[in-house]
Amino acid sequence: MSQDTKPQIVQSGTNAVKIVVVGVGSVGSATAYTLLLSGIVSEIVLIDINKDKAEGESMDLNHAAPSNTRSRAGDYTDCAGAAIVIVTCGINQKHGQTRMDLAAKNANIMLEIIPNVAKYAPDTILLIATNPVDVLTYISYKASGFPLNRVIGSGTVLDTARFKYILGEHFKISSDSIDACVIGEHGDSGVPVWSLTNIDGMKLRDYCEKANHKFDQDAFHKIFEQTRDAAYDIIKRKGYTSYGIAAGLLRIVKAILENADYSLTVSTVGDYFGVEQIAISVPTKLDRRGAHQVAKVTLDEKEEELMKKSACQIKSVIDHLNI
Ligand code: 2OP
Repeated sequence: MSQDTKPQIVQSGTNAVKIVVVGVGSVGSATAYTLLLSGIVSEIVLIDINKDKAEGESMDLNHAAPSNTRSRAGDYTDCAGAAIVIVTCGINQKHGQTRMDLAAKNANIMLEIIPNVAKYAPDTILLIATNPVDVLTYISYKASGFPLNRVIGSGTVLDTARFKYILGEHFKISSDSIDACVIGEHGDSGVPVWSLTNIDGMKLRDYCEKANHKFDQDAFHKIFEQTRDAAYDIIKRKGYTSYGIAAGLLRIVKAILENADYSLTVSTVGDYFGVEQIAISVPTKLDRRGAHQVAKVTLDEKEEELMKKSACQIKSVIDHLNI
């Protein structure tokens, strides 16, 4: 991954951290609210095509704000000096649609927005959440001209959280005791990494044996299906998802600002699993300069095969867009 060495504008530990959220729909407003309550940023600027909505949201947010954080509506010029610009705008998945069905329309929206952000915030970190997030992270990389490390997609951070939650429910244990992840596409071809799943520091099979749980392949397959289909199940009921992704975006923002050098399954651009020039999620270190590849994750043969398929799936949508 090529890195740039520009001076940092992220000022963790001080009160001067500006974050811009582009798109104030259900995801953008939940993200702004989550960031605001976290107290880790000083200024949240909301940009939306509907200025009244952005203004209304920021007024409402300020009434919930801790004293060190303020929100306001703005335009692209306000991206100047932002540590991170989070992009959530675009059409969202409706009942019966896949994330990939949104690719053409949302790619065009990215092509409009990203050059504006890049113009006013040439040193910022772009954090893309709009779906299909892997495809749009790639498009945003191309449209921004930014180095690889400063274009990050929310990727499978949310799928990983869902996987850990569902595993925790199954084993009746806190998800904090579980080390597990989903990698690949944030979507139908995402890959749960069973071979590296640890509970209480033990491999899954050892944990099942020690804790008197059946090593139940059928149950594990259901856990995978529930993880994969979580967004469909939520959208069928409430029409959209918002809180899970907002919490995932906060986790990514925190990792960047805290410069803690830990890894999350964000999506970044590169050549992966024999497929060139795509964005896909693998464990990736985050710090104030953005994303940095860690050593290639060791997968078993089946997982490696599934990752190749996932990478090809993303590539075919990118190629089809012909951008
Ligand atoms: C989610 O997984 C729809 O991508 C969104 O919640």
